[in-house]
Amino acid sequence: MKRLGINIDHVATVRNARGSLHPNPLVAAKYAMKCGANSITIHLREDRRHINDFDVIKICKDKKILVNLEISLNDKILKIALKNKPNYICIVPENRKEITTEGGLNLTKNKNKIKNIILKFKKKKIRTSLFIDPNLKDIRLSKELQADCIELHTGKISELIKKRKNFVKEHIKIKKCCKLARALDLEVHAGHGLDYKTTKLLSKIKEIKEFNIGHFIIGESIIYGFKNIINKFKKIFNS
Ligand code: PXP
Repeated sequence: MKRLGINIDHVATVRNARGSLHPNPLVAAKYAMKCGANSITIHLREDRRHINDFDVIKICKDKKILVNLEISLNDKILKIALKNKPNYICIVPENRKEITTEGGLNLTKNKNKIKNIILKFKKKKIRTSLFIDPNLKDIRLSKELQADCIELHTGKISELIKKRKNFVKEHIKIKKCCKLARALDLEVHAGHGLDYKTTKLLSKIKEIKEFNIGHFIIGESIIYGFKNIINKFKKIFNS
């Protein structure tokens, strides 16, 4: 069975748009787990544009939530992650001006730093994952750095599919990466830009064990949650 991790960062984006407490990411995390999510992903960004320190504390404390905390290589973020002991961590690159995580980690440039971070989490028995672009060199490096899992950045294939461009080359590349990763005993995850169509295609790859999806699920939930909420208001009018 494949696992579905739900990234709830954008629940915090909506909350922050009003500077209030609603919608509450902790409530969203609990409810997503109740609805069948296998884990909850949150990304504590250095600029705190969505999830904040208080969210991390609250969500990590709730033992009913399996938390996958995304962190950059920043020392302060690392300290917060070690203190809050999420179930899993995923190391991601961070670039100030990006709208979202645009690409995978530069493993070659940050080899020693990443290895040290992985060791720190291993000591606490926290599963480690590296968010990388689909290329064979980074898969081998991930193994060398002793990561437990790799998460393949699916942004490129998702964009190609959405723009109805030829995605065959990227699809083959992803499949080769998955095979090599499994041969090296790395667990394979996939995430970024996924929707129904891209997930349907990639879920045929048997080596991919976990999908982490955020923006599309939150967007769909906003629209298709309307019915339930409108009915609640109608009941209030008539009560
Ligand atoms: N996986 C990782 C490592 C990410 O950084 C993100 C985006 O924050 C996602 C998955 C989810 O991507 P999306 O919001 O495009 O579904």
